[in-house]
Amino acid sequence: MTLPATHPLSDGRTSDSPLVTTYRGARGAVTPVWFMRQAGRSLPEYRELRVGTRMLDACLDPDLASEITLQPVRRHGVDAAIFFSDIVIPLRLAGVDVDIEPGRGPVLAAPIRTAADVAALPSPSAADFSAVEAGVARTVAQLGTTPLIGFAGAPFTLAAYLVEGGPSKDHLRARTMMHADPDAWSALLGWAAEVTGRFLRAQILAGASAGQLFDSWVGSLSVDDYVTRVAPHSAAALAEIADLDVPTVHFGVGSGEVLKPMHDIGVDVMGVDWRIPLDVASSRLGGGVVLQGNVDPALLAAPWPVLEAHVLDVLARGRTAPAHVLNLGHGVPPETDPDVLTRIVELVHAQGEV
Ligand code: CP3
Repeated sequence: MTLPATHPLSDGRTSDSPLVTTYRGARGAVTPVWFMRQAGRSLPEYRELRVGTRMLDACLDPDLASEITLQPVRRHGVDAAIFFSDIVIPLRLAGVDVDIEPGRGPVLAAPIRTAADVAALPSPSAADFSAVEAGVARTVAQLGTTPLIGFAGAPFTLAAYLVEGGPSKDHLRARTMMHADPDAWSALLGWAAEVTGRFLRAQILAGASAGQLFDSWVGSLSVDDYVTRVAPHSAAALAEIADLDVPTVHFGVGSGEVLKPMHDIGVDVMGVDWRIPLDVASSRLGGGVVLQGNVDPALLAAPWPVLEAHVLDVLARGRTAPAHVLNLGHGVPPETDPDVLTRIVELVHAQGEV
């Protein structure tokens, strides 16, 4: 299948945008910039809109999701929007009883811990993504030449929530299951790959111009476990969109040891967290991979001259890669002063003009 003729990548709206050009490996006049978790808690206009609506209900309200997605684009002038949703939305839409507890994160009514639990999971094909498609379509209609990024959680990060039943530090139960019951593990990740891949596909067909896979908790895995028991399922998730020829990004936290195998699943761009400098990441990847990152979120609260020097250093190190999209090394912390984000966008764009 190819993208519809009215898709922004097909009709030319976003195909020559700085973001898409850079994701495809070419350097343009400016380094594009956007921020992971730009749509959300750091913006007063977001908090105002969210009053009285639960997080996942907001994600499934096309008007609300679209408006929240557009807020940071209007305010900061970023080079991309990222669709306001959550990695657990496809689980919810497939019929899993999951909610997001404010300040805590995703919580399941019944964790998936045994082979029988896995076998009892609802069929991924039962998930109806029409609310997501409507939200994306509405957003893209208003974005013009600014590309929308669609996203999904990678199977391991989803499994980390499914098995633990909520947020955890080391994902011990999930990692135990991986070895104690490899068949159940493989079935669980296969299930997660299908449902999350379909979520990503729905966003792209509805108008997103790129797709990012978040394997946020990949840093708790050994390289061997990642390569043998996780990466094939991440590749399967991406296979759901392989025919659509949109640029893909893969991001994880604490991913320094697994950068290369994360790239090897077949993505165009690697998102790098704040722990390793971009020149080091680039050389670990063989020097030929487009990078995205990696301003340390902690420095958003530092005095401007400190942050400014750090952003310029990230840009300089990013020049060692074939192309670079400036982003954070993880999501925007909720207490961030939004004006600081706007100032970073201005700084990065000004560098391109000199
Ligand atoms: O990036 C964006 O602006 C788009 C929206 C987005 C959200 N979640 C909205 C959200 C994206 C891309 C995500 C992805 C996501 N969700 C990830 C991967 C990215 C990462 O940060 O590593 C993960 C691990 C989740 C699971 C999740 N959802 C967590 C850990 C939390 C935080 C809980 C908290 O309140 O501290 C959520 C909730 C969530 N997802 C919020 C938002 C805006 C906050 C909910 C609120 O405003 O009440």
